[in-house]
Amino acid sequence: MMTWLSRLWRGGPALVEPATLRDAARLAQLHGASFHRGWGEGEFETMLTERNTLVHRLRVGRRIIGFAVSRMAADEAEILSIAVAASHRGRGLSRNLLLTHLGHLAGRGVRTVFLEVEENNQPARRLYERAGFAVAGRRERYYRQPSGEQLNALMMRRDLS
Ligand SMILES: CC(C)(COP(=O)(O)OP(=O)(O)OC[C@H]1O[C@@H](n2cnc3c(N)ncnc32)[C@H](O)[C@@H]1OP(=O)(O)O)[C@@H](O)C(=O)NCCC(=O)NCCS
Repeated sequence: MMTWLSRLWRGGPALVEPATLRDAARLAQLHGASFHRGWGEGEFETMLTERNTLVHRLRVGRRIIGFAVSRMAADEAEILSIAVAASHRGRGLSRNLLLTHLGHLAGRGVRTVFLEVEENNQPARRLYERAGFAVAGRRERYYRQPSGEQLNALMMRRDLS
């Protein structure tokens, strides 16, 4: 459970804020460390300038330690990526990041949010389930690992209102 204390880390509280263009390199670094097909700095720069893409950063002191990215279309959005630096995982920080991000999506008129998650990604599944997402579908062998292994995807959905 997230408590006030668990959100405190050496540098102070973890803050969720809109990301800026100047964050692109750090966001690419965090993404690359969390996913085997990392997005480059240029991809983040593009997303940070697109009006239909919402990017939040998680910051402790001067250090960005996480992010959430969504793409919006009419009253729907898809969460494209969310990550917390490995050094800061397991402290409940992702929950505030996700809930704040969802609040901003709602503020932009989004009513339904979708995402895909690898079936065995337990921390992510717990995060999404506790934030009110429900499984809406399953795709067999959707992700191909660098090893050639194929993993299943779950589609999840949450209505905002
Ligand atoms: C998913 C991610 C953002 C979660 O961030 P976090 O701040 O570490 O998350 P939390 O500390 O809030 O933990 C989330 C839940 O997972 C659980 N959890 C954490 N590590 C776990 C593990 N190894 N096995 C099972 N459950 C685990 C926690 O107990 C918590 O559940 P709870 O709220 O019921 O206690 C983070 O693990 C991450 O960046 N992963 C790599 C990128 C990724 O997979 N993103 C999601 C792609 S869809």
